[in-house]
Amino acid sequence: MSNYHIKQFEEYFQVYKKSVTQPEQFWEEIAEEHFYWRKKWNKVLSWDFAKPEIKWFEGAQLNITENCLDRHLHSRAHKTAILFEPNNPNEPAEHITYKQLHERVCRFANVLKEQGINKGDRVCIYLPMIPELAVSVLACARIGAIHSVVFAGFSATALSTRINDCDAKMVITSDGSYRGAKTIDLKGIVDEALEDCNGVTSVLVAKRIHSEINMKEGRDHWLQPLLDEAYKDYTAEIMDAEDPLFILYTSGSTGKPKGMMHTCGGYMVYTAYTFKNVFQYREEDVYWCTADIGWITGHSYIVYGPLANGATTVMFEGVPSYPDYGRFWDIVEKHKVSQFYTAPTAIRALAKQGNAFVEKHDLSSLKVLGTVGEPINEEAWHWYNENIGKKKSPIADTWWQTETGGIMISPIPFCTPTKPTYATLPFIGVQPTLMNEKGEEIKGNQVEGRLCIKYPWPSIARTIWGNHQRYKDTYFSAYDNMYFTGDGALRDEVGYYRITGRVDDVIIVSGHNLGTAPIEDAINEHQAVAESAIVGFPHDVKGNALYGYVTLKGSSEGRNQDNLRQEINQLITDRIGPIAKLNKIQFVEGLPKTRSGKIMRRILRKIAASEMDQLGDTSTLLNPEVVQRIIDDRL
Ligand code: WT7
Repeated sequence: MSNYHIKQFEEYFQVYKKSVTQPEQFWEEIAEEHFYWRKKWNKVLSWDFAKPEIKWFEGAQLNITENCLDRHLHSRAHKTAILFEPNNPNEPAEHITYKQLHERVCRFANVLKEQGINKGDRVCIYLPMIPELAVSVLACARIGAIHSVVFAGFSATALSTRINDCDAKMVITSDGSYRGAKTIDLKGIVDEALEDCNGVTSVLVAKRIHSEINMKEGRDHWLQPLLDEAYKDYTAEIMDAEDPLFILYTSGSTGKPKGMMHTCGGYMVYTAYTFKNVFQYREEDVYWCTADIGWITGHSYIVYGPLANGATTVMFEGVPSYPDYGRFWDIVEKHKVSQFYTAPTAIRALAKQGNAFVEKHDLSSLKVLGTVGEPINEEAWHWYNENIGKKKSPIADTWWQTETGGIMISPIPFCTPTKPTYATLPFIGVQPTLMNEKGEEIKGNQVEGRLCIKYPWPSIARTIWGNHQRYKDTYFSAYDNMYFTGDGALRDEVGYYRITGRVDDVIIVSGHNLGTAPIEDAINEHQAVAESAIVGFPHDVKGNALYGYVTLKGSSEGRNQDNLRQEINQLITDRIGPIAKLNKIQFVEGLPKTRSGKIMRRILRKIAASEMDQLGDTSTLLNPEVVQRIIDDRL
């Protein structure tokens, strides 16, 4: 018998040991005893990190939505599956039961089929956090279409790049979205994006804000009338375990966004098993993750992981500051939330508001707290622990990535003793290691290095859509036979891990992964700009903020700098989205470069962080004289 629910620290060690000494047997038992398969596998795992090629449960057949919906219909038909909390607190919350969710997904699946979407087709979903978002994700999975959710804060250009990269046939969107006191014209953004996307033949539009929008004849369809007419049942498409389930884009340090591809079987098993244990989920609990389904956190821990466990998962449409900074705590009280999962940037923003908003609310329903997305600083950790968890709810600091599909390093609440700023121990089946710059494994404790994973886990992304070579180069080429995470970490005296941050040119701003290259490309489009370099610098709420160093073309040197700054940020907003705007823009005469012409971001990073004493030797630069000028004019 497998141990699906770990309740003691001792048990963690036993199960962990089995998961790494007999990984295939371990995962086979978990998969067999806790999931519904149409057909069992021929082989649990085959892998080769050199190719790279990873397959879990090969030969097995399933549909993930039968595991998330159908199998709960006997015992949990009238239990709330999705608890939708609207942006406006005066609008009633919606409790969608498993039975209702099943029916809504089936109707939607029929609509997709009628619109000509088939197994293997890509469907881009660009929706706010309304039930249709979860329903459309599951409807794609039900018919075997590959969903690619694009966070509805991305711009038209970012959207069209993603649509074209995966060659999506359909876009699902809404007439607009609510965000605090504002509304956003999502359909307008889609229309603009689609001017550059020839492959999209239909657009389904959900009504949310009832605004006047353009509907393009023959292409655009209102969703509701189609759903009303569709049949309420749909026999799930039978999928191979290794068939694609979804593509989700993440930024890299260079080039266009990477479409991480996840597959059906392993992803289901791993997200469900981590959900159960990291959140210590029990049948009567109400679980809330504040992320957007547009990110991997929402895919794995709002939709698939919770639903595979028959859980009640809250979907919140709004923002933490509307109508005031007590909104999160209001929702926790109102729905008696037991597990609360959010990001350090949100914790810092809320902590900054003082405790009056917290004290107004009864948070006694909380049992487990979670954090994800970036390293949590000590101050934020303690504030969260003392004021939200009242020192009774353990904090699961969960380290993972879009690429890993599920949580990789995290305490198991009530089992693993927590330690501020530490993600602590590897989850079951995960074999982390630290590497030095010479490519050697660092043994022992109290060491620091680059975080790698030595052995496959079931939800590892299988490729970058359309670019397997890039998948290999990015993750499997830095060290032989290792998955390289891009993060640095240290291991303390007892073997606990603390993630120290990215060691590449990815910058995490407010928990959002931003590559420097796409931002620099956007800036360089400005006709006055010659060259630019972006670095992160510490920010008390966002974790990191962006600092841009920009050189201007000779003809533009006299231009008003404030206007230029505004225009540059507008370009970034148009090309990527407001999340990538720069906090500071410094116009410089030249960027420090190596003799081979590479921009020395390390120096720029130190200057942005006011660590001028740590610049190191700058004399070998091609143009050492620019460094002092940059320091003198620093913002
Ligand atoms: C990067 C992945 C996985 C969900 C959200 C982000 C950073 C994530 C932690 C944590 C320190 C963290 C890493 C990682 N990160 N969680 N608990 N402590 N850093 O997914 O956008 O793919 O970003 O986020 O740098 O590599 P993502």
